[in-house]
This record gives sequence, structure tokens and C-alpha cells, in this order.
Amino acid sequence: MNSDELKKRAAARALELVTPGMRLGLGTGSTAKHFVDLLGARVAAGLDVICVSTSQVTEAQARALAIPMSTLDETPELDLTIDGADEVDSQLRLIKGGGAALLREKIVAAASSRMVVIADDSKLVTQLGQFPLPIEVVPFGLEATRRAVIAAITAVGAGGEIVLRRKPDGSVLVTDGGHYIFDAHLGTITRPEALSAALAAIPGVVEHGLFLGLATAAILAGGGGLTILGTLE
Ligand code: 5RP
Repeated sequence: MNSDELKKRAAARALELVTPGMRLGLGTGSTAKHFVDLLGARVAAGLDVICVSTSQVTEAQARALAIPMSTLDETPELDLTIDGADEVDSQLRLIKGGGAALLREKIVAAASSRMVVIADDSKLVTQLGQFPLPIEVVPFGLEATRRAVIAAITAVGAGGEIVLRRKPDGSVLVTDGGHYIFDAHLGTITRPEALSAALAAIPGVVEHGLFLGLATAAILAGGGGLTILGTLE
């Protein structure tokens, strides 16, 4: 089974958690896209849910499938968010933001009673940090913020190259919120909580891709079947 089929399997298991009347957060990325496709089919068959998306891409996909959409202003409390991840460890700590949606993903996850991660099991790691950590920053003061980010990373005993994210055409990637992203190539993150706090204290940093204490469960699909971390119900 290839990685895309595994992602779909994880998404299908997550769909079983959805019950009528739920307020759902919809994630972003290739795995979340499978979930939204499957949810769209259930909605077409009569399932009643209301959803909030984590990106313009997911919003467009969900609307095209006629999934009822809302906002966090109209629906500020969600029952369940289903989203992908770039890395997950055994304590359900995540790196997210490979798809540049980390800010809305974190806001939606924080507004949700439960956040269930769906992924193929290659995303399960013993230590976070092999995947570059996305750090969303405001364009104003970019170089000053970059230096502050380096200082914060150094202060927690980490280090590595900080790269401004660009699109394939070479232009700087701009997030849905109008911000830029630094990708921090750290290799390993030995103190995620300390790094999270240090980055959050920098004025030019809007948000970062360490999701700590947000995921309540993870559904990881592999060749041998599904692995569940945390509690699904
Ligand atoms: C987007 C994300 C995605 O959830 C993450 O990048 C995983 O994506 P995929 O399911 O395509 O592997 O955080 O910002």
C-alpha cells in the first residue's frame, strides 16, 4: 500500500468519529484532503455537520463538496478537529505547517474539544525536529526577527539553518494571514516546550509549528494496520 492509500485509510478511520450535529474543524494537507473528500460523500448522503476550515484551500474544497461551512466567529467552539501533521511523537507533540497553514490550524485546534491527527506512520518519530520547524513571522522587521529567532533557538540548546520559505517560482511564500514563514532546520528538538515558549516571546513571530498539548489522539496508518495514540472518543 502506498503512502497516499495509507493516508486515506487514516482519514476513513477518522470519519467514523463524526456523528450528526458535530461542529468540525477541517485540516489542511494531502491527508486532510482525503478526510474532506470522504466527509463530503457523507454529507451528500445526508449527514448534518457544520465545519470550519484551516485554510483557503480546504475552504474551497469543502465548499465545492457542498459541506456546510462556518467561521470561528459564528461557531467559536468545535467538537472535533481532524488534521494531518508533519511529525508526531509518542506524547502527541506535533510539528505542523508544512502546508503553510499552521496559524489557522493552531487556532482551530485550540478552539476544538478534541484534535485527532491523521497520517501515514512515517510521520511517527522518536524525537521531533527532523522536519524543518515552520515559524510564521510578520514581514515587517524580517531580519531583526530572524536574528531573534536564532537567539531563541540557541538559548534552548538547538541550532540550524533558518530558511525563508519560497514558492517553486522563487517568490516568497505568503500565508493566508499575509505573513512569511521561516523553516528552522534543527535536526532534533530536545526541549520542545522551552523552544515553543522562547519563540512565542518574540514580537515578530506570529506562531510556530510546534503543537504541544493540542492533539488528543493520532491515527497512524501503516502496512501492518492502524496505530492509535491517545484516546479517540
Ligand atoms: C499544513 C500541515 C499539514 O497537516 C502537514 O503538512 C501534513 O501534510 P500532509 O497530510 O500532506 O502530509 O500542517 O500546514
